[in-house]
Formats: sequence, C-alpha cells, structure tokens
Amino acid sequence: MKYSRKEFLKVLGSSVALSSIPFSGNAFATTAISESSLVDPEEKFWTSLAKKNYKLSPDFINLENGFFGIQPKPVLEAYESYVNQVNEEGALFARRTFPEKFRSVISRIEEFLKVEEGEILITRNATEALNIAIQGYPWKEGDEVIVNQLDYYSMIETFQMLEQRGKLKVKPFEMALLPKSPEEIIQAYEDQITPNTKVILLTQVSNITGLITPVKEITVMAKSRGIDTITDSAHALGHIPFDIKDMDSDFVGMNLHKWMGNPIGAGLLYVKKDRIQELESLFGDKDPKDGNIRRLGHIGTTPFAVQLSIPHAIDFHEMVGINRIQERMQLLKEIWIDEVANSDAIEVITPTDSNLSCGIASFRIEGKTDKEVENELLDRHGIFTVARVLGEKGCIRVTPGLYTQTEDIRKLGKALKEIAKS
Ligand SMILES: Cc1ncc(COP(=O)(O)O)c(C=O)c1O
Repeated sequence: MKYSRKEFLKVLGSSVALSSIPFSGNAFATTAISESSLVDPEEKFWTSLAKKNYKLSPDFINLENGFFGIQPKPVLEAYESYVNQVNEEGALFARRTFPEKFRSVISRIEEFLKVEEGEILITRNATEALNIAIQGYPWKEGDEVIVNQLDYYSMIETFQMLEQRGKLKVKPFEMALLPKSPEEIIQAYEDQITPNTKVILLTQVSNITGLITPVKEITVMAKSRGIDTITDSAHALGHIPFDIKDMDSDFVGMNLHKWMGNPIGAGLLYVKKDRIQELESLFGDKDPKDGNIRRLGHIGTTPFAVQLSIPHAIDFHEMVGINRIQERMQLLKEIWIDEVANSDAIEVITPTDSNLSCGIASFRIEGKTDKEVENELLDRHGIFTVARVLGEKGCIRVTPGLYTQTEDIRKLGKALKEIAKS
C-alpha cells in the first residue's frame, strides 16, 4: 500500500501509540507476519497487536468474526480471574461483592457510550436487548413496521410474531444490495412510509452484506413524521464510530461479544430516559410504568464474570481506538475486493465506499452455491468464512478481526480467484 505524505505521517504517529497497548508477556499468536509489516508502521502495529494479544488456532485463517469476536488476552485473563473468584466465593461474592462492582460496570458503559445515567441495561445479547424494546413498545391497533431483507432474521421474526398476535403489521421491502449513496438508502426508507408507519427497524451494519445504514439521517426524517426507529447496532458497536445521542434513535440494541471482544453473553439496550416508562416489561415486573431501566431486565441469574469483564473489553478497545479500527477494517476489505475485482465470476454484493460498509463484505461465485464456496475455502485453502441466506442465491460473508493480517486477507483474494476458475 502506498501512502500519501499525510497518510504516512498519520501511520508514523500510530507507531508511537503502539507502546500504550498492554501486551501480556507470555502471549502467543500464530498469525502470519508479512514482510510488509517490517516496513509499514501501521502494519507493524497490527502485527504486534495480534502477536501479543491473541492466541489463535494455527490450523486455519478465521474470517468469520461476525458470529463473535475472539477475546484479546487482557480481557480473557480478567474473565478467567472473575470465573475463579465466582467459583471460590460462590453466593457470598454474588450477594456482597458483585452489586458494587456491577454499579461501576454500568458507569463505565455509560461513560463509554456518552449516555445519561440510567439509560443502559445489560442483557445477555443483542437479541434479548432488541426483544425487550420491540415487544415492550406500546403498539396500537393498525401500527405498521418497516423492515427489509438485510435486517437480522431474529428481529424480523419478532415483528412477525407480534403480527401473528394481532399487534402490528410488518411491511417488508427489498433494499438495493449496492446503493450508490447513503441518500439512496434514506430515500428507500422514505418511500416505504405510509400514514400507519409507527416504527422503522434500522440495522446499522447488516450482518448479511455489511451495508451501513445512515441511522441518524433516517431517524431525523422519521421523527419529523412522528415515527420511531428501533436500531440494531449489534455489528456497529466497536466496528464503526457512532454517537448514540447524536444518532437520536430512542431504542438501540447492541452486543459486546462481537466487535468489543467481551466474553460471550453480554448485550446492551439503550433507551432514551424519557421513553423508558413507555415500554411494557417483557419479563415479570410489578411496577410497569417505572422509569428505571432495570425493571426491563428481570432476566434471572446473570453471568457475573461476563459482565465484570466489560470494562476490560472497553479499555482494550479504547486503547486501540475506534477510528483506527475502522480504517484497518476498511483496508482489509479493500484488499480482498481489489484482488477479485477483475474476476467476472465473482460478484461482490457490498458497496465498498466507506460510507456504505466497513470490515464486513459479502460475495457470490457464479456456478457455485454459497455452501460449496464456504466448504471449498475451508477444505482447500484453510480459510473459514460463512454462507448467509439472501434471496435464492445466498452469499458468503467475510468478517476479519482485529488480529487479521493483510497477508491472510490476500490469501483469501487469491483463493477466491482459484475457486472461481475451477
Ligand atoms: C445485525 C444483528 N443483529 C442482532 C444479532 C443478534 O446478536 P446476538 O446473537 O448477540 O443476540 C446479530 C448476530 O449476529 C446481528 O448480526
């Protein structure tokens, strides 16, 4: 990669920041180290990050980090120590030590997301967070909800379930796979609005193609017409920069075990303070109109160690930096997409523009099913991706992680060209 002077100065600066990353001494990573990493300071940063903070299987290249992210060493070590503490101290820990620690976890999350006190609920995942918002929303007869094929299937199914129960009407539409601009996406939503539209489901980063939805602009447009947005930021948090308050969506579901690298089993629900009391509780609650967000989360015994790890995941993430992560993920995506650009048989179904996608991108290969491509990539090239359902043809999704090396991504591009020829 060639850098302009400005870009070069930027990456030069980043090598200084390298020393601020906490590296654990005995860490071992199997990730390939490219020659370019020896000369390019930014590549050197990411190679060191991978080497010092991740212990990966040497058997394959993992490009399926969209399911969940690998925990970096400092987070994994903190998690292991909490697991041990929970098992040494048992209920005494849960009853006496945990409550205060939990309060500081919440404060750290509120500070990280720059939201007001009492606007965040920790859930077990994004599905739970979004179900609390969707099922708790004060639906009225005749209300319509706009969804499209790039939204997450579980959220669509939750709306369909409520439709079967007579609570609302689902209005699905086909989003263009390759919109040319965020404005085209905004217009696509605007075109779907009817006098009965009450809510628009916005998936900030699609899990299928990685398409980025301009949540703020659509929310502003929707609110001016008395319509709410419920935002699914499961793949946005930790992947692309955004400010919840600025985005203005009153209901946002996120998870911490994808791009934030927290142990599996933690999600977040943000509800704007003055909207909390409107939500009906999904779980048993005796004070239904209470404005305390905790009333929405009576989900029983929670994974203490998972929740206590959250500040460690935030610390690690902040030390790397969201802008740097975004730039890195853009680069990794561009490398493999550039590599396959001249192959007629490979159809990339994600727009590459940085306004429209970041690290996640998807493709198809003519004459092969998505599952065949997934299998060939793993069996013949040792690269793990995942086939996703999308229309009749499906697609294959590529999701790098923070430890992914440019050399590994180049291998993907070459493997795809070989598969397309075979
Ligand atoms: C866009 C999107 N929303 C929601 C979810 C659900 O996340 P979780 O499985 O953590 O509940 C996912 C998971 O892949 C997702 O990609």
